[in-house]
Amino acid sequence: MDQLVKVLGFAGSLRKDSYNRALLNAAVELASKDVKLEICVLDGIPPFSQDLESSVPGTVKEFKNKIKDADAILIVTPEYNYSVPGVLKNAIDWASRPRGDNSWENKPVAIMSASTGMLGGARAQYHLRQSLVFLNMYPINKPEIFVALAAQKFDEKGKLLDQKTKELITELLGNLASWTRKLQSKT
Ligand SMILES: Cc1cc2nc3c(=O)[nH]c(=O)nc-3n(C[C@H](O)[C@H](O)[C@H](O)COP(=O)(O)O)c2cc1C
Repeated sequence: MDQLVKVLGFAGSLRKDSYNRALLNAAVELASKDVKLEICVLDGIPPFSQDLESSVPGTVKEFKNKIKDADAILIVTPEYNYSVPGVLKNAIDWASRPRGDNSWENKPVAIMSASTGMLGGARAQYHLRQSLVFLNMYPINKPEIFVALAAQKFDEKGKLLDQKTKELITELLGNLASWTRKLQSKT
């Protein structure tokens, strides 16, 4: 078996029946034995203020530690008004701080999105990719996973039904694992 890759996954939606949370759950089920995908939630991360940086809230400390412990990151995001939800951007901003302690630094990352619209969150993903540049992360380029018309792709319990999406998730996780091993072997 290949070296185990620890992936931290989270969704940029706090909604109980979120399609993006459901997509993340599908990834957990599809992960191979050499990928350990741990899920965390963004609930409880307060709105960022630089005034709080000197006494970082516990939920943020916990989040930053989980990122640091992970070999790689999986972000699953909705699209809100052609961009990423504030909840996701807020969590990203928190973990990038304080200055000199960017938890995202050098982390390989994969992205997926689900939307009830026709484009499956593509515009949010490209906005997110822009932030990843400054965070100095190493994103996977392909496959791109945009789950369009999400209401038709999951059952009422949030189980992913679409076979093609399942295949793409398997491919994405495989690429993330080998990309992570490649980057680690050079350090
Ligand atoms: C504030 C808001 C803005 C939205 N903007 C977009 C958008 O720009 N593009 C899109 O495809 N869907 C948009 N939607 C619809 C979301 O795709 C849909 O609500 C989706 O279910 C959200 O993801 P979730 O199920 O993981 O919570 C928006 C929804 C909300 C609540």
